[in-house]
Amino acid sequence: MKKSIILVVMMAVTAAGLSSQTFTYVGSAKCAICHKTETQGKQFPIWQGTKHSKSFAALSSPQAADVAKQANVQNPAECPDCFKCHAPLYEKAAELKAEGVTCEVCHGPGSEYKKLNIMKDLALAKQNGLIVYDNQDAIKKQCLTCHANAHGKSFDFAAAVEKIKHNKPAQ
Ligand code: HEC
Ligand code: HEC
Ligand code: HEC
Ligand code: HEC
Repeated sequence: MKKSIILVVMMAVTAAGLSSQTFTYVGSAKCAICHKTETQGKQFPIWQGTKHSKSFAALSSPQAADVAKQANVQNPAECPDCFKCHAPLYEKAAELKAEGVTCEVCHGPGSEYKKLNIMKDLALAKQNGLIVYDNQDAIKKQCLTCHANAHGKSFDFAAAVEKIKHNKPAQ
């Protein structure tokens, strides 16, 4: 009896220890190891072809200088106000700042779920930090954290999803 209580306590401690703080960001090159093939759906090259992979670089463009001037920002490529959407990992994983809106911004930090045996089991992957979206509303809510009225532009959700989609091909 006593033993099992101790075991339960130990399991609770372990579970708490595995909460978000132990999940760290690994960068898109790690995801690419498995998510670049035709059969998996080429998620990595597709993402590379979208503006999300260039959102940090965009802060060094001439256009960014104009946007910055209007926002009273001196150097957009070093401005946390711009990073919030253009380099969202700048605080949690500064070394991945230049990846911009990268895989783990939308799918959660991958240190634990990226292991093949875990990735193959969706429930286990979720327990290990993977974020997936169950319906269109959940996806839209996530997009709007950055796209709601960004620079005064409206957001056409359906068209935007179409532009960045990276589905696994039907079997
Ligand atoms: C060792 C190989 C491997 C690595 C590394 C890997 N994945 Fe996966 N991933 C898989 C496999 C296998 C599946 C299951 C796909 C299937 O259904 O056949 C999967 C599924 C997924 C899914 C879909 C889950 C679902 O069923 O809806 C997402 C999202 C995902 N991976 C994101 C990532 C991200 C982000 C990274 C990098 C942090 C990553 N993966 C790294 C192999 C990998
Ligand atoms: C609330 C989120 C958010 C913030 C904060 C933000 N941006 Fe943006 N920015 C976006 C989004 C979203 C787009 C893409 C809009 C579209 O095309 O639909 C964008 C687009 C841009 C573009 C156009 C890039 C291109 O090549 O297409 C530039 C330049 C830019 N932002 C500069 C800045 C600068 C400079 C700052 C800081 C002063 C900043 N942004 C702050 C969300 C943001
Ligand atoms: C963390 C902030 C962030 C989130 C979350 C986000 N985006 Fe973006 N998105 C951006 C920024 C910043 C840009 C502009 C990048 C650039 O132009 O360099 C952008 C650009 C885009 C573009 C290119 C615009 C164009 O017309 O070429 C599309 C499409 C897009 N996002 C779709 C989506 C969708 C769909 C979602 C939700 C699944 C989403 N985004 C979530 C920040 C974000
Ligand atoms: C702007 C947010 C965003 C970014 C960036 C992003 N994804 Fe996704 N991803 C989504 C959404 C939304 C879906 C569709 C809903 C879902 O399955 O969760 C999705 C689906 C997936 C799936 C499941 C595909 C399927 O049909 O089963 C995989 C695998 C995946 N993403 C991997 C990646 C990888 C790897 C990267 C980086 C190279 C990445 N994603 C970048 C938002 C994003």
